[in-house]
Amino acid sequence: MSEWTECLNFGVSLCKQTGDVILSAFQQQKEVTLKSSPADLVTETDQRVEKLLISAISSRFPQHRFIGEESVAAGERLQLTDSPTWIIDPIDGTVNFVHRFPFVAISIAFTVNKQLEFGIVYSCVDDKLFTAQRGRGAFLNGAPLHASGQEDVSRCVVVTEIGAERDDLALSTLTSNICRLLQLPVHGVRALGTAAVDMVQVAVGGADVYYHVGMHCWDIAAATIIVQEAGGVVMDTDGSVFDMMSRRVLAASSAIVARRIAEVIRAFPCRRDDEE
Ligand code: IPD
Repeated sequence: MSEWTECLNFGVSLCKQTGDVILSAFQQQKEVTLKSSPADLVTETDQRVEKLLISAISSRFPQHRFIGEESVAAGERLQLTDSPTWIIDPIDGTVNFVHRFPFVAISIAFTVNKQLEFGIVYSCVDDKLFTAQRGRGAFLNGAPLHASGQEDVSRCVVVTEIGAERDDLALSTLTSNICRLLQLPVHGVRALGTAAVDMVQVAVGGADVYYHVGMHCWDIAAATIIVQEAGGVVMDTDGSVFDMMSRRVLAASSAIVARRIAEVIRAFPCRRDDEE
């Protein structure tokens, strides 16, 4: 057993337990609070699930640190250090959750020395558990995952997200990116409303590309290692080395496709996640 397998197994069991909390709230009326924009939402369930996860993990692993979406929203400093760190999004796809659009996930990544050791994406409504551990492959409900390996961009399905930004530059960049991709052409462009579930589609091979500008580290940290372990590549949207705090990500079935997509898409400026 690798040093961190116990943590992975513990994270999986917590995802199953807190997935039940999300599911039981899914059909109920929710009290919604706005965060950074009218499309950036939080509910009592997001906050409750994050507290449950952090309290259970800290009781078992008292030295470990956390980066949690709702803790950061509540004012906690976001700092990735060399210490073992759990990066948590309690409900990825909060807008979906509020509207009962059936794609929501718990996303948990674990880093040591700032390197991803494992990732868990639990898509609760359809009970799909995506996991990966560094050097040990990626799995969906225990079955191995493999990216498509597609190298021809004109045969790709591309997944992206519109996000919560509503300013003119962000919207024109987002829409012109989609136009340019459709004109390449690619086979199709999709968006499920949860970055984590979107991104793991590249690991499954159902999509060949995922890119996103404006998301946060907790949205994509777990899915990053799942895509890498499934044989996919992860880089910056401009084709440079991936930086988890940059708020830009491009994942693909092959380096050839990733580089071609990077030539076509543009990013709008975003404050880094770790900016003071
Ligand atoms: C959001 C979702 C959404 C994406 C946003 C994310 P949240 O995460 O992943 O799909 O477009 O950029 O912030 O707020 O539901 O955890």
